[in-house]
Amino acid sequence: MKRILSLVVVAALALMFAGVERQLAAAKTATAPRQTFAARVDRGRALVNFGGCHDCHTPLKMGANGPEPDMSRALSGHPAQLVMPPAPKLGGPWVWAGAGTNTAFAGPWGVSYTRNLTPDQVTGLGIWSEEMFIKTMRTGRHMGVSRPILPPMPWQNLNSLPDEDLKSIYAYLRTIKPIHNEVPDAIIAPPPPAPAASKK
Ligand code: HEC
Repeated sequence: MKRILSLVVVAALALMFAGVERQLAAAKTATAPRQTFAARVDRGRALVNFGGCHDCHTPLKMGANGPEPDMSRALSGHPAQLVMPPAPKLGGPWVWAGAGTNTAFAGPWGVSYTRNLTPDQVTGLGIWSEEMFIKTMRTGRHMGVSRPILPPMPWQNLNSLPDEDLKSIYAYLRTIKPIHNEVPDAIIAPPPPAPAASKK
């Protein structure tokens, strides 16, 4: 009798726990999409900070202790109002030059300006899809399909990240403040002349 009773108690407890477990599982699925999105955005923020995106895509301004990122223009790229004169003539081992904002660069590739990574619809990544963003970092081509991306954009570094991390960076960039800033078009240098044919 005692044995039967304890069996009944064990069975009842097992059923109870199974119920609790089911409830927990249900609660998890109900909140999972939201939690996952917040975690994705957090991961994206960490990758953007660690990946140095601000170094080039947020213009530097002069502060009390020297140049500092102008966070009122966070990730909005080369400021449209800063019109760069023709690049200085470089020679010898000096092969490239950069603007004080660290948003414009001149070198053998021509002149490149850091793009606006904010979700502004017209001047930023507003119309970019997640797929387009991933393809850009995988191929090193503008918008994933057109001209090769110029230096010093380190797309090769981003290409070493798994899709999940690129998705997180994209997700985070969708959440930042949209800033209207029309970055000038890059100037693409003509390809270097072909080496002279060897004389016979
Ligand atoms: C050393 C400077 C530098 C760093 C660091 C940098 N970028 Fe860039 N980025 C550039 C430049 C310059 C361009 C424009 C290149 C061009 O016009 O071909 C660019 C362009 C881009 C583009 C536009 C590509 C296209 O198809 O037009 C995206 C997106 C981008 N960067 C994302 C990032 C992200 C995300 C990070 C951080 C992980 C980052 N960049 C870090 C310099 C940089």
